[in-house]
Amino acid sequence: MKKQLIALLFAMMPVSVLAAAGGGYPLDEANIDLTDKASLQDGARTFVNYCMGCHSAQYQRYERVANDLGIPDELMVENLIFTDALIGEHMKNGMRPADGKEWFGAAPPDLTLVSRVRGEDWLYTYLRTFYEDPSRPFGWNNKVFPNVGMPHVLDELQGRQVIGCKAMPVMEEGEVKRDTLTGETVKDEQCNVLTVVEGTGTQTEEEFDTTVRNLVAFLAYSADPIKLERHRIGIYVLLYLAFFFVFAYLLKREYWKDVH
Ligand code: HEC
Repeated sequence: MKKQLIALLFAMMPVSVLAAAGGGYPLDEANIDLTDKASLQDGARTFVNYCMGCHSAQYQRYERVANDLGIPDELMVENLIFTDALIGEHMKNGMRPADGKEWFGAAPPDLTLVSRVRGEDWLYTYLRTFYEDPSRPFGWNNKVFPNVGMPHVLDELQGRQVIGCKAMPVMEEGEVKRDTLTGETVKDEQCNVLTVVEGTGTQTEEEFDTTVRNLVAFLAYSADPIKLERHRIGIYVLLYLAFFFVFAYLLKREYWKDVH
């Protein structure tokens, strides 16, 4: 009984809690807004431009995305379909899993449902924590997914992110360390931090966070395209129940009147 209870508790936990428990690196909150069409459209654009070279979203159709996100069909075909796919087709890409495995050490997985598996905060943090690591085959490593096979594909936007010690003068007494470059004293815990080399990306840190937030919003939408519709219908169902309750109650009173 106890075991079943524990299993039930786990089953009820939101995915993000479970995913967060695995890694150890603190996750930033994605704070996505699925009702913001502009955000979803921006995410869709980033997805087809930067992700579909390797990943597919094969359970999703271009047409459905266009309709749900309010993108006219012609614009969708002209700007967001880079393969010879027709608008009614699934969002597949041309890479064979075997090739992916050979090139990157692991085949790029389909991303249609990834936000349900990993959670939004995980994705948001993952896509912002690639850093330079010359020991890796492509020169990139990741904080949330150590030794990942995927290169940092958004580096032109974010810029070069490096890991190291941040030079921060220490005021109080105690054991101190000097930064080898600046000679300034630094605290140990200020090491191992990520910093973007200024001027190496086309977006500021804030702009990049927004780009990634929109991309994660698109992935979250993709994993559950009828979520908004479900919420809308849910409200009507609750209203109906509330309305019905009044009549049910009046009827009950009427029936029991003579019994008392
Ligand atoms: C150059 C090819 C390539 C591109 C482009 C690319 N990825 Fe990946 N991605 C990979 C590979 C390879 C893996 C598998 C890594 C592994 O398992 O070590 C991966 C893994 C992932 C994962 C982890 C999946 C999981 O649950 O294990 C996510 C999430 C992801 N990619 C998102 C993206 C997003 C979002 C984009 C676009 C911004 C993108 N990728 C662009 C190659 C790519």
